[in-house]
Amino acid sequence: MTHSDTPPVCDYEGSDYRTRFWEGQGRNYEDQVERIALRRLMPPTGGTLIEIGAGFGRLADEYLGYQKVVLFDYSRSLLREAQAHWGDDPRFIYVAGNWYQMPFVAGLFDTMVQIRTLHHAADAPALFQQLARIARPNGRYILEFANKQNLKAILRYALRRQDWSPFAPEPVEFVALNFDFHPRWIRQELTKAHFTPGRMLTVSHYRIGPVKKVVPTGLLVGLDSLAQHTGNWWQLSPSVFVDVAHPRGGQTSAPHTFFACPHCQTPLPEPVNDRLICSNAQCQRQWQISDGLYDFKEPVS
Ligand SMILES: C[S@@+](CC[C@H](N)C(=O)[O-])C[C@H]1O[C@@H](n2cnc3c(N)ncnc32)[C@H](O)[C@@H]1O
Repeated sequence: MTHSDTPPVCDYEGSDYRTRFWEGQGRNYEDQVERIALRRLMPPTGGTLIEIGAGFGRLADEYLGYQKVVLFDYSRSLLREAQAHWGDDPRFIYVAGNWYQMPFVAGLFDTMVQIRTLHHAADAPALFQQLARIARPNGRYILEFANKQNLKAILRYALRRQDWSPFAPEPVEFVALNFDFHPRWIRQELTKAHFTPGRMLTVSHYRIGPVKKVVPTGLLVGLDSLAQHTGNWWQLSPSVFVDVAHPRGGQTSAPHTFFACPHCQTPLPEPVNDRLICSNAQCQRQWQISDGLYDFKEPVS
């Protein structure tokens, strides 16, 4: 697959996502309930973890029980913000790239986490195929997705204020490169990629401006924490977490291998002068490491 035939990417390069969306923006409730769901599903300790679409590293402090933590994102500038915060901690590895061309050897990651990013996936099945390749057998993939079958969408559809059906299985692109997904479709596509979807938690039930204004955040968080458990039976919240088991039959990465060429998937040798050079004679692409950031967005030659 070449860059020109990968699906379009929602580009956050240079974005003020951290200050515009999170810091001081009244989203403590969302942040806290997501962390509760993540802690419920993610193994707290392990060898190698990747967060796919890690952004500025909002959730990085949840991964401190792991030996190696890859913060993977398409936006170099957001990764630099993560690095500014965690740069002294040797367990963090900052990797810029496209999730349709993951630059890692097969069977590398014990745990994979993806939160608030699948809604930018124009081709979720292609992404799941990439993740199935880099997943280590017996590991877990904790996936959050935006749920099209949420209560607000159902009400709007019933009142004819929305033309798409929240019950139809296929993803809906409500704004360019922003998709909501049906839980049944997500499970079906994960299964096609040889993952085994398990328990679901519904999250952010009270993400309603006026409610958040009058009810103390701590109380809302407590109520959401209780309601999350209903996710196995019905999913009417805007956000859903699913605990997914990695494909059983996949490979386990060989010791001392880590990165692979995102174009041809050949394992990459140790860097020379801050460059990772693909040893495949047909490829020979070179990838730059600049100031501690592994950059797989574009080859340098
Ligand atoms: C809404 S932000 C969420 C960031 C983080 N997960 C959080 O919850 O704070 C979505 C992130 O997905 C990343 N992203 C979107 N498309 C991507 C792609 N094709 N490959 C890698 N990252 C991508 C964006 O750069 C952005 O940082």
